[in-house]
Amino acid sequence: MTSNNVVEDILEVDPALLLPEDDDDYHSIGYATTTESLTESIFEYIFENGRRYHSYFGVDKNLMPTDEKEQDRLDLHHEIMIQLLNGKYHLAPVGDNPQRILDIGTGTGIWAIDIAYQYPSAEVTGTDLSPIQPKWVPPNCKFEVDDAEQPWTFRPDTFDLIHSRNLNQAIASWPSVMSSMYTCCKPGGYVELAELECRAYSDDNTLAPDDKFGHFMNLLCEAMTKLGRPHASAEALVQRLEEAGFVDVQAISVKQPFGPWPKDAHRKRIGALTMMMCESGCEAYGMAPFTRVLGMEKEEAAKVCKEAAEAVRNRGTHVYSYYHVAYGRKPEDSEA
Ligand SMILES: C[S@@+](CC[C@H](N)C(=O)[O-])C[C@H]1O[C@@H](n2cnc3c(N)ncnc32)[C@H](O)[C@@H]1O
Repeated sequence: MTSNNVVEDILEVDPALLLPEDDDDYHSIGYATTTESLTESIFEYIFENGRRYHSYFGVDKNLMPTDEKEQDRLDLHHEIMIQLLNGKYHLAPVGDNPQRILDIGTGTGIWAIDIAYQYPSAEVTGTDLSPIQPKWVPPNCKFEVDDAEQPWTFRPDTFDLIHSRNLNQAIASWPSVMSSMYTCCKPGGYVELAELECRAYSDDNTLAPDDKFGHFMNLLCEAMTKLGRPHASAEALVQRLEEAGFVDVQAISVKQPFGPWPKDAHRKRIGALTMMMCESGCEAYGMAPFTRVLGMEKEEAAKVCKEAAEAVRNRGTHVYSYYHVAYGRKPEDSEA
């Protein structure tokens, strides 16, 4: 994980949660893990494996459901990712007074809404294939249904910040999206890309080769690679930005713990929230790639997802993945 512009991250295991006991589940020590809870044609959906997928732009566009259960998960994941950045909504140094901000693939719009509160003078636009954003939003925030892979209709040189988070599994051609971002970013403005890597790691060898969560992540990697959308490393994000023409590119990679095993209280909370998110997250990430891309039967795919979520609750495994954030600046005309 080291290269010139990638910062290394360290996570220590909480010794109080090491395993002398006969139980190996976080439930026993109090961590509950339940998260239950235009025009007419843009509301077209398909129902598959008990989940609702948006279909107006084609079912293969987005391999993740967009139903209420997924919307709750996205909002929980937002909280996790903001905590991973120590409360920051972005890392690009856009100054105190950005005028126009774009969030592509905005999901529930929660990042766009929060950033609109943070910068009341900015006009914030969130776009998504799916019209799942709330109606009551700050006056400087609006949402549009749009496919980021189609030619953009925004004027060139418009945005001070363009943000894209967790879209890796959805985009077939990044060079084309990056080119649209470059065109529509203001000279001197920034593009920020953030992605959770779909790979499991442990620093203390507690991730066994037959671990069910590790197995789930490997299958997800396999499916996404087969689909031509391999997981994003920090280096891949840096490359995406540099090849598009952005300069001063920086990246950080933060460890996202799966479970409240870290010693550090802040990371412990993140790990607990992540464990909770896995209750529906494994299914949300896994079902469509496993059944549609790997050709698994529904029952088999559901079992892999369920066992992965259960494995995350195992106190004996200290698993994490990486959350990568990279940003780059569009050169001023004078620099070109
Ligand atoms: C995993 S969610 C991430 C949502 C949001 N960025 C966040 O971090 O909370 C991916 C979102 O991207 C949207 N999406 C997928 N492909 C897209 C495309 N080609 N253009 C616009 N949005 C897209 C999906 O509908 C979904 O809401």
